[in-house]
Amino acid sequence: MDTNARYYGSYLHLDKVLDAQHPVSFEKGNEPAHDEMLFIVIHQAYELWFKQILFEMDYVMRVFSQDKINDNSEDLNLVRHRLRRIISIMQLLNQQVNILDSMTPLDFLEFRNLLTPSSGFQSKQFRLIEARLGLVIDKRHQKDYYKRTNEGGFSQADYQVITETEQEKTLLELVNQWLERMPFFMGEYWSASTAADITQHPFWSAYRKIYEAGLTEREANKVKDFDYVFFEKKPAGFSEAQLDVLRSHFSPAALRAALFIMLYRDFPMFQTSYQILDSLIEIDHLMSNWRHKHLIMVRRMIGMRVGTGNTSGAGYLEGALNKHYVYRDLSGLSTYLIERKKLPALPEELIKNLGFHL
Ligand code: HEM
Repeated sequence: MDTNARYYGSYLHLDKVLDAQHPVSFEKGNEPAHDEMLFIVIHQAYELWFKQILFEMDYVMRVFSQDKINDNSEDLNLVRHRLRRIISIMQLLNQQVNILDSMTPLDFLEFRNLLTPSSGFQSKQFRLIEARLGLVIDKRHQKDYYKRTNEGGFSQADYQVITETEQEKTLLELVNQWLERMPFFMGEYWSASTAADITQHPFWSAYRKIYEAGLTEREANKVKDFDYVFFEKKPAGFSEAQLDVLRSHFSPAALRAALFIMLYRDFPMFQTSYQILDSLIEIDHLMSNWRHKHLIMVRRMIGMRVGTGNTSGAGYLEGALNKHYVYRDLSGLSTYLIERKKLPALPEELIKNLGFHL
């Protein structure tokens, strides 16, 4: 064999990868626990996939960081494609929990104490995925847990990387900017005059009327939410708590563009943008599915004991599950959809511009 030829094992550096499983219970003086090997392999498999997710996110964020994205380049289609890849990986990660379920609580107890105080909580890559998607520390459940660099918390080096990443623009902020730049409501496309006040724009005044007319008696108040979400008009009599529920991570201009894309997604020019928004919603759902599956697995494995990472355990995980959504404002836009057949017709000038130009 040609000694310079590529060889499977060396190309993949399997010497390192396959020499990285060292169950502590197998060390001298400990009682070997068979299932610790599975525990290590499954965590390592997760971390490899986290690495790939971050790699795909790097590309997506680079494209969205541009001041202007060229619609006639491959950029947006590749973003769509790579977000779909992240979705496929996350679907696999969700299924991987089932393999761990083949370990019984008693099997786990055989080596659990040897892990303390390390925990999946300290996964730097998982925190980077969350931070890049747009989950900021101040919005986290029990945010003080994340600032710990003592036992059970992050190493100083990891903590620094995570906090630096949190200072950078998130995917959510980049998508917000991209949506804000959408030109759909520009005066040149609409024959009627477009006043500076967006609520008087021919599209939005027509849409609001149709939306309001379609609400049932019990939902009548939703038109006030509509005014606040899309036009920042504070409804009289709403408490701060009510406004808090409506407050969005996206700007009203970005939400107007996102709703417009969802409504008119059958136009060819909107297909890719629509699929990008849909993928972000899907990624949020898959993260939440994983949190749920992990929580159920943890409850079965350790009941109500505290975690090895020194949080309250299942209680903490449940709080994170309920609070750590990032793209809920996008999925929440369904509240403001109207039936297809009632959609206002778009001006010819705009339709011409929504088609591909050859
Ligand atoms: C026997 C299996 C497992 C048990 C009993 C378990 C238990 C826990 C507990 C109790 C926490 C809360 C933090 C703490 O106090 O430790 C936690 C967090 C976490 N674990 Fe696991 N875990 C298991 C498997 C896994 C696996 C396979 C992964 C894959 C990477 C993982 C990733 C995480 C992550 C990312 C967090 C932080 C979640 C968040 O902040 O939302 N865990 N785990």
